Amino acid sequence: METVFITGLSREMGLGTALARQYLRKGYTVFASCRDVNKDHINQLKTEWKDSLIPVALDVTSRESVENAATVIRKHGGLIDILISNATATNKEGNEPIDAGCDTEHMLNAYNVNAVGFLRMVQVFLPFFSKGAKVNAITSEAGSMGHCWRDNGLDYGMAKAALNFACVTLQRRLGKNGIRVLAIHPGWVQTRPAPPKADLTPEQSAEYIIKTIANPPDYNEKGNTGVFVWYDGRNFVF
Ligand SMILES: NC(=O)c1ccc[n+]([C@@H]2O[C@H](COP(=O)([O-])OP(=O)(O)OC[C@H]3O[C@@H](n4cnc5c(N)ncnc54)[C@H](OP(=O)(O)O)[C@@H]3O)[C@@H](O)[C@H]2O)c1
Repeated sequence: METVFITGLSREMGLGTALARQYLRKGYTVFASCRDVNKDHINQLKTEWKDSLIPVALDVTSRESVENAATVIRKHGGLIDILISNATATNKEGNEPIDAGCDTEHMLNAYNVNAVGFLRMVQVFLPFFSKGAKVNAITSEAGSMGHCWRDNGLDYGMAKAALNFACVTLQRRLGKNGIRVLAIHPGWVQTRPAPPKADLTPEQSAEYIIKTIANPPDYNEKGNTGVFVWYDGRNFVF
């Protein structure tokens, strides 16, 4: 049975939960993580998929917590075929325009959760990655400098830009060992309780993402194309 480790499942309507559901249906063993896994929808999934769903309490900002998650993985075979770093955090005030209330003093958490948290996990989980493992980060168009259209959103955008850089660098390094790294923009997804007029449902976005992870686009070291991509595998501009 192939395994996938996913972060950020704390909301039933979130992308992480949609990804987990679809991988479970495909027969994967799913390590489902968020800080507090005692949630109704996770308990419900556990009832339905008792042997293949493994809830893991994980705070990606804590090395100790990531190491505890590693202990759980070890206990369940010690192999990860797919990692999906989907956890995110942002600070509303940190996203205000620079001259209209932007709070620079509380920006480190978004950077820690989105970018450093991803690296922390990859580093601790390195021994578990199977041959040809897929390491994925759910990023955002908000972290693209070439595509930038906002004059606010620094907290979230800077964190995702850092995450994109991490993915390119990891692809260059871990790619030498056959690991494939993607930074995937999931599209505009209806992940809020009262869905806005977003383009995709979480289920639709998850379906695209799973296909893209299974069949990633060609990676070209010159220009680093094939790393920062749309949910359907098209290249996104850095
Ligand atoms: N929805 C969109 O249109 C859209 C667009 C572009 C990109 N994205 C990206 O897509 C992904 C999923 O989006 P979403 O709306 O489904 O996200 P979400 O439901 O807000 O999920 C974020 C998750 O991150 C977790 N998290 C926060 N701090 C954490 C920490 N320290 N350690 C571990 N987990 C932590 C949260 O769990 P707890 O706080 O409960 O622990 C929550 O489960 C995110 O990476 C987001 O940036 C979404």
